[in-house]
Amino acid sequence: MSEKNPIKLFHHMAIDVSDMDKSIAFYRKLFGYKLTERHEAGEVEAIPVELAFLRIQNNHHDMVLAHTPGKKYRALTEQDNQEGPTQFHHLAWQCHDRDAWLEMADRVTELGLEVIRGPVVHSAYDPRGEGSWGENESFYVLDPDGHRLEIFCDMATIDKDGTFVSYTGERIEEAKVDEV
Ligand SMILES: [Fe+2]
Repeated sequence: MSEKNPIKLFHHMAIDVSDMDKSIAFYRKLFGYKLTERHEAGEVEAIPVELAFLRIQNNHHDMVLAHTPGKKYRALTEQDNQEGPTQFHHLAWQCHDRDAWLEMADRVTELGLEVIRGPVVHSAYDPRGEGSWGENESFYVLDPDGHRLEIFCDMATIDKDGTFVSYTGERIEEAKVDEV
């Protein structure tokens, strides 16, 4: 591979939803998504699914909702963690900073959503941490189909020499990655 990774970033995910109207409303209300375009199944012959393209800022889309007409959907259950087809584990949204993250916690409360995990500090170095990874603060909720959504702030970055750098810009000298 050339020195510069040709990939810029992981950009979006298209998730399967059982009720398009319900999921569009959910993602609008929770995250403030705007609807860029919505299309019926089969509008383009090669695409037999209904699609909604959602954006947070000015990308055409950062998130896609897909619905297959006629498919008998069921929400994900705890049982699916024991047995079932492979699926993604969770999706995550980064807040601008901790205040914005707390604002999202308030929004989750206002919307009556259950926090299924957290708030938690994913850290083995921060005294508040539970020993997990990323140095970020997170909480998790479920969408209408049971997809796990993480909302977080303050994830560490990795310095050129592999040392973790906290969100405040401090190097965490005891934390280093092997691959730089
Ligand atoms: Fe995560």
